[in-house]
Amino acid sequence: MRALNNVLVTGGAGFIGANFIRYLLEQSEFRGRVVNLDALTYAGNLDNLHEIAEGPHGSGSYNSVAVSTPRYVFEHADIREFDTVADLFARYEIDTVVHFAAESHVDRSIVGPRAFIETNIGGTFNLLEAARSAWGNRDDVLFHHVSTDEVFGSLGAEGAFHEHTPYDPKSPYSASKASSDHLVRAHGHTFGLPFTISNCSNNYGPYQFPEKMVPLMILNALEGKPLPVYGDGSNVRDWLYVEDHSSAIWSIMRRGRNGETYLVGGENEWENLTLVHAICEKVAAVRGEPTERYTDLIRFVKDRPGHDHRYAVNCNKIKHDLGWRQAHEFSSGLDATIAWYLNNTTWVERVRSGAYKDWIEANYAAR
Ligand code: NAD
Ligand code: TYD
Repeated sequence: MRALNNVLVTGGAGFIGANFIRYLLEQSEFRGRVVNLDALTYAGNLDNLHEIAEGPHGSGSYNSVAVSTPRYVFEHADIREFDTVADLFARYEIDTVVHFAAESHVDRSIVGPRAFIETNIGGTFNLLEAARSAWGNRDDVLFHHVSTDEVFGSLGAEGAFHEHTPYDPKSPYSASKASSDHLVRAHGHTFGLPFTISNCSNNYGPYQFPEKMVPLMILNALEGKPLPVYGDGSNVRDWLYVEDHSSAIWSIMRRGRNGETYLVGGENEWENLTLVHAICEKVAAVRGEPTERYTDLIRFVKDRPGHDHRYAVNCNKIKHDLGWRQAHEFSSGLDATIAWYLNNTTWVERVRSGAYKDWIEANYAAR
């Protein structure tokens, strides 16, 4: 039986991490405490957890690093610093890790790969070492590593990744995630560290930083800005609503077998251009305007170097072994996401000010 009493969530102020913390604290079967370790890079934002901060025991202040409740603690820390991470394991008697913290955007890994190596590989190694030293031979503990289907490379028109697909990462981002997956398995194999890994396809939903395709297209459409489609728009991604990713991880934490890998996906493939058209149609419907007003904003721009053509995921294993299912259908998930960005303009303004704006100005204007 796993303890699940003190869960260290790394990267809990990011898109998926924040959605996961909210989801976990809502599960009646979960009675433990969450320790959210996040360095608050450009992508990490405590606004993403404002309901928790504003809850009965929270401080209520946006962007306060001191937010804590009896079941939730925030620790402003960096996984690249081993001593800090090791101290947190001892201080909070951590028995479970759900490791999201990462540099996560492929385009940034092309412009500046070093941070990806340091955080995704070095940071994961620090966490593994801290867990190994804190846990000894305990078998009621778990290191769950959150990874991506991009470690498997790029597919042609047919087929889907599965748990035995050979690794073939193509971008600095996916190579760094592949490396971290190998380190997790090596710690399991060599030192007996209890672990599980999930490799998930593209997520969408509320609180996603607007450099990724779905929120970027929604916000640019709402603001009448160009919609930049890389290459000819024929690349294919599989899309999963972020809450379905959270439920998959929660299933694995409870029932996943030690040492196992589970692929997670939406079984929902879209060509980029078709998806951008669908977003235009939905934004037009919300605004009561003709679709062309938005599709006219589409611009084909220089392709991403080394752009993976297609991702698709076979998730039969997690469905069969753990009984997991996607609960959100794509059309309603996209509607909810568009509505969320429309209703949360303050969040958008706040995340866009600062580092993100500088990066976009330095790199995007040149394309
Ligand atoms: P994100 O960029 O939105 O959030 C990453 C979080 O990690 C941020 O809060 C950031 O502050 C934090 N962080 C970064 N470097 C850190 C460091 N050195 N120390 C501590 N915290 C640090 O990313 P996301 O989209 O939420 O992705 C979360 C995880 O899920 C990543 O590991 C990613 O590889 C994986 N994943 C993402 C997707 C997707 O579609 N977004 C799909 C599959 C897997
Ligand atoms: P992205 O959200 O960056 O995720 P990933 O690269 O990890 O799959 O991009 C999703 C797809 O959309 C990918 O094929 C690249 C493409 N894309 C664009 O065409 N235009 C954009 O502005 C962005 C950000 C992505």
